[in-house]
Amino acid sequence: MKKIAVLTSGGDAPGMNAAIRAVVRTAVFHDMEVVGVFQGYQGLIDGDFKRLHVRSVAKILGRGGTILKSARCMDFHEAEGRKRAHVNLVEAGVEGLVVIGGNGTFTGAMKFGRETGFPVVGLPGTIDNDLSGSDSTIGFDTAINTVVDAVDKIRDTADSHNRLFFVEVMGRDSGFIALKSGIATGAVAVMTPEMGMSIEDLVAVLQAGEQSNKTSSIVIVAEGDPNGGAYEIAKRVKEKTDSYETRITVLGHLQRGGSPSCFDRVLASRLGVAAVEALRQGHHDVMAGVIDDKIELTPFDLAIGTKSSINEDEVRIARILSI
Ligand code: F6P
Repeated sequence: MKKIAVLTSGGDAPGMNAAIRAVVRTAVFHDMEVVGVFQGYQGLIDGDFKRLHVRSVAKILGRGGTILKSARCMDFHEAEGRKRAHVNLVEAGVEGLVVIGGNGTFTGAMKFGRETGFPVVGLPGTIDNDLSGSDSTIGFDTAINTVVDAVDKIRDTADSHNRLFFVEVMGRDSGFIALKSGIATGAVAVMTPEMGMSIEDLVAVLQAGEQSNKTSSIVIVAEGDPNGGAYEIAKRVKEKTDSYETRITVLGHLQRGGSPSCFDRVLASRLGVAAVEALRQGHHDVMAGVIDDKIELTPFDLAIGTKSSINEDEVRIARILSI
């Protein structure tokens, strides 16, 4: 294999640039050419390619976002779009593709690989951590540290005013960010799509806290919690009890930005090297991940299979420590 392409797709994540850098430098190290594809799959369809050199990726290791830009591309959902993408890659002499993204990215990659036979290897780049085949995804560690930093600040003001805060964090379908940051900030309760905590249970937890002289409380809510977002949950709690002065903070997209943590830089660097070497060894339709500190390749269909954030031990720890 003499020429590969790399793209980032879906929601961006801190550490994507570190992964791009690792892909480019590993390829050059092995005497291969690299083409950067802009705007994710849309760039594949439009032929938005640019040659990347060793120095094209200088000083991006610590930068958030992605120099290749990212997008959620509707046209790639269609067979016609994927066909155009394939023609563009072949015409550019590209022989392998590295895609960095999450569930949607790998679903597209899987269809593309099946239809065209083109070799594709994926890297898990999403703050959600909801991919099987890697203990952590690129960006997750940075995102939870961003959340912890924000909630620590909220705690200061919550405590000064004896208030109850509902803090909404990202996670449409999974509660990884909510659960980890809940433990790290001493939240009184964590609500996630998978845990299914009812409003009645939440009120009981809040009242128990009140009886044990808690002065301020933080409830972390994953945006995908079935009871609704933080605003809806706060409203429903208020309907049941009026004894709290309540405020709500939605952290939103600030969780997606910022300089990647050391952990994410190292993870992205290891996986970038692994992806290029996997392509060179003839692997395709797999995601490179780290499991128990070892590089593992997982087929796309398994990587996008449901990964629940419910770690029984962590849920138990969160409950014990929030009394
Ligand atoms: O997949 C990452 C993620 O940040 C989710 O946690 C969130 O639900 C979604 O992307 C938001 O997407 P967008 O930036 O397109 O609004």
